[in-house]
Amino acid sequence: MAQEVLVETDGSVGIVTIDRPQALNALSLRVMEDVTAALGGFDLNPAIHAMVLAGSPRAFAAGADIADMKSISGAPAADKALAHHLSHWDAIGLLKKPVIAAVSGFALGGGCELAMACDMIVASETSFFGQPEVLIGVMAGAGGTQRLTKIVGKALSMEMHLTGRRLTAREALALGVVNRVVPIESYLSEAKKLAHQIAAQPPLAVQAAKASVRHALDSSLSEGLLFERQSFFRLFDTQDQKEGMKAFFEKRKPIWTGQ
Ligand code: HXC
Repeated sequence: MAQEVLVETDGSVGIVTIDRPQALNALSLRVMEDVTAALGGFDLNPAIHAMVLAGSPRAFAAGADIADMKSISGAPAADKALAHHLSHWDAIGLLKKPVIAAVSGFALGGGCELAMACDMIVASETSFFGQPEVLIGVMAGAGGTQRLTKIVGKALSMEMHLTGRRLTAREALALGVVNRVVPIESYLSEAKKLAHQIAAQPPLAVQAAKASVRHALDSSLSEGLLFERQSFFRLFDTQDQKEGMKAFFEKRKPIWTGQ
C-alpha cells in the first residue's frame, strides 16, 4: 500500500505531510497512526525543536474517513471503534514540542480539529475551516465543540456546529483561529519559517511556555497562574537561562544548548 504520510527534516524542524489526495486527505486510522507516530518520534528526537504538519494545497484534511465510520452501528460499537481513533487527536495535543499546522484548502471535521490540536496555524488564502459533521448525521468528536468554542466563542461555534457553516481564511484570521493568512504559493514556506524561528529559541524555555499556554485553556486563572509560576522558576535551573542573560549583557547572540 502506498505511503500516505511523508516524513522529512529540514535542519531542526520535522515536517509531516498527509498525502492522500484521492480522498482529500481524509483521516483514516492508518493516516492518523502514521501522523502521530511521526510527530511523536520528532518529539523524542533531541535534534528536532519544532514541527510542521501539512496537507496538500487542495486539502489539509476533509475530515475523518467517512468510509471507516459508515458501517458502525450502535453506541458500544462506535465507542470501541472510534475511541482508539480519537486518541490520536489527543496525542497531538500532548506533544511537548511546538507543532505548526500548514493549512490550505479544506480543514473540515476531524481536519479542522487536527489543525486546532496543533499550536499554531499558518493558512493559505484558499483555506476553509468547518465542523460539518451535523450534515452527515453526527457531531464533532475529536475536540471541535471544545477547542473551537474556546477560540471563537459560543455564538459562532454553535452556528458552525449546528449548521455546518464554514469560515474563510480571512474570517479565521479575524477570529484568532489562525496565526496568519498568506498566498497559496507560500503557506508551506511560511509555516516552515515560523517553525525555524521557534527552533532557534532555547528549547526548554519554548517547551515550558508551550505547556503553560496550553494549561491556560484547561484551568482556572489561579490554577493557571500557579502552573506558570512553577514553570518559570524551573527555567532558572537551566544553562540556557544563564547563557541568555549573560549574552544579553555581553551584547551578543546566545548559544542555546537545550540544557
Ligand atoms: C472519506 C472523503 C472525505 C471524507 C472527501 N472524500 N471527504 N472520503 N472521508 N471525510 C472523498 C470523496 O468521497 C471523493 O471520493 C473525493 O474525496 C473528492 O471529494 P468530492 O466530494 O468529490 O470533492 P468536492 O466536490 O470538491 O467536495 C469537497 C468537500 C466534500 C466539500 C470537502 O468532499 C465533503 O463534504 N467531504 C466531507 C466533509 C465532512 O463531512 N467531513 C467531516 C467528516 S466526519 P471519490 O471516490 O468520489 O472521488 C469527522 C468526524 C471527526 O470528521 C471525528 C473523529 C473520528
